[in-house]
Amino acid sequence: MKTIRWGIIGTGNISSTFAKAVTSLEGAKLVAVASRSQERANEFAEKFHIEKAYGSYQELALDPELDVVYIGTPHTEHFSNARECIINKKAVLCEKPITLNQSETMHLIELAKEHKVFLMEAMWTKFLPVTQQVKQWVKEKRIGTVKHLKISFGFYKDFDPEHRLFNPNLAGGALLDVGIYPITYTIHMLDKLPDQILSFSEIGKSGVDEQNVIIFKYNEGMLAQLSSSVLLDTGDDAEIIGENGRIVVPKFWMAESALLYDKEGKLLESCSIPHKVNGYEYEAMEVNRCLRDGKLESDLVPLKDTLNIMKLMDQMRNEWGLKYPQEEE
Ligand SMILES: NC(=O)c1ccc[n+]([C@@H]2O[C@H](COP(=O)([O-])OP(=O)(O)OC[C@H]3O[C@@H](n4cnc5c(N)ncnc54)[C@H](OP(=O)(O)O)[C@@H]3O)[C@@H](O)[C@H]2O)c1
Repeated sequence: MKTIRWGIIGTGNISSTFAKAVTSLEGAKLVAVASRSQERANEFAEKFHIEKAYGSYQELALDPELDVVYIGTPHTEHFSNARECIINKKAVLCEKPITLNQSETMHLIELAKEHKVFLMEAMWTKFLPVTQQVKQWVKEKRIGTVKHLKISFGFYKDFDPEHRLFNPNLAGGALLDVGIYPITYTIHMLDKLPDQILSFSEIGKSGVDEQNVIIFKYNEGMLAQLSSSVLLDTGDDAEIIGENGRIVVPKFWMAESALLYDKEGKLLESCSIPHKVNGYEYEAMEVNRCLRDGKLESDLVPLKDTLNIMKLMDQMRNEWGLKYPQEEE
């Protein structure tokens, strides 16, 4: 089995989480890390026993020893970080949202095609075994035809205009940070983009959406009520309601369990699959598999879906009048 050699860009929260996951895998080696500061790169390298620590992202992108780079920087940096890696022939696993908007995503997709390089948004939820079990229940019509979904993702966070969740210069706001999960989950479960969307947001003091609600309507008769917040705990469970029963997925975005009920509320089946490490190992395993098979994208997170979701989020932000400084002409 070919060992896949990984590099990581950024030394923040999610990069540490991902480093734990990838270093646990057989057939993968975390070879390099890059930070904007040599000191932080050294610290991270020491913590995760990584051979090479770079004090700039560009040096890592140029490292000929790497097969793939994980990008764990704020949303606003994804485009330029991914671009640098792709033009240097490195496969890319980029944190969500893959870019700020549809136009940047399109650009990256074209660049990845041109350079024949693998590209995937790190939508890890789709690779969790519990998500796959839930999708299987839906496909097998265990709850009959799905008619309704209720999904939220929100948490309490004290307002801080400098923090990336509230800072417009780092593309803060609920939609791009957490709202992307209920949207992606719904489209994944129904295998279809909505026919109509109605959405509202509350734009806070720093000029980004602190909370939002979104309704998806499908011509086949399905409705989804979705919401997200970076200021309030609006919950983070998913409920999928069908004509004959209901599936409940506690903490759907990092799910380790799911419950299947009949119409009378009787529990028919449950599944519990604890993460092997922290849940991020599954997306890393998918990237390893794809690279070994010479694939340029993942079947489960195809670039067309990533682009379509960016397009929907652009559309909503447009209706809310939410533009980031980087998008102003
Ligand atoms: N999949 C998930 O479950 C999940 C969870 C959390 C976050 N995320 C995503 O991961 C990304 C990073 O989130 P995080 O919570 O890990 O953020 P974070 O803790 O702030 O870390 C971001 C890192 O990016 C680097 N960076 C580059 N340019 C920066 C800038 N202008 N300002 C601040 N940092 C900059 C910094 O590393 P250096 O200083 O070393 O260069 C920093 O440590 C976001 O896009 C977020 O949506 C995903």
